[in-house]
Amino acid sequence: MQVIIVKDKAEMGKTAAEIVAGGMRAKEHFVLGLATGTTPIPLYRELIRMHKEDGLDFSTTASFNLDEYVGIPGTHDQSYRFFMNRELFDHVNINKKATHVPDGMADDVEMFCAEYEAMIADCGGVDCQILGIGSNGHIGFNEPGTSLGSRTHRTALTESTIKDNSRLFEKVEDVPTEAITMGIGTILESESILLLANGANKAKAVADAIEGPITATCPASALQLHPNVTFILTEDAAADLKLEWHRG
Ligand code: PGA
Repeated sequence: MQVIIVKDKAEMGKTAAEIVAGGMRAKEHFVLGLATGTTPIPLYRELIRMHKEDGLDFSTTASFNLDEYVGIPGTHDQSYRFFMNRELFDHVNINKKATHVPDGMADDVEMFCAEYEAMIADCGGVDCQILGIGSNGHIGFNEPGTSLGSRTHRTALTESTIKDNSRLFEKVEDVPTEAITMGIGTILESESILLLANGANKAKAVADAIEGPITATCPASALQLHPNVTFILTEDAAADLKLEWHRG
């Protein structure tokens, strides 16, 4: 496990973008695992800059997003498909047909989840999975208590996640209560994983994930099992770590 501590969000985004772009340049048919939320936005801004100014090419890149709300269509401004189009896909030369976000409106959600796993496998698996972390330690929508071996599945959101996300909706009652998420087992099959965190509200979850026991009460702690995971943390998100980690 590698832990890189940086001074601010902008540096977090740049550091992550260097790693992602390095992977994309080294492998023609690169498969990105993508995340939504406020955390990866500096990364997406930097990738867009690299595309526009340095010619970073997305034309042969495919992507799979971690999760999507159940019950809202991709045209809804709070759907994760909408977010990805707005924050990244619309600004780079990625083939939209090669971008995958779980379908929150699927008639048969369980069947869709199995198909999503098959689509990832057909693309050869995810080369680099981007993750944020919830203040409760969740990754994707794998809330505390989720099996560490879980595959893509339908899940209920916890009260704490609904509350965290309610800032993005007019009323807390408007926040969807279910989602489709890649499972922890799915995430652990990625070739490499980059977890980004900023903000003091993530400090406890980050410390539990990196230095605590591997337990379903902190889903991100399962990343300790992965041979190629990098945490990119701002100083405030790293504040509860007890060991001395590298400062970037
Ligand atoms: P955030 O969400 O980036 O909006 O803080 C992260 C997460 O819940 O995984």
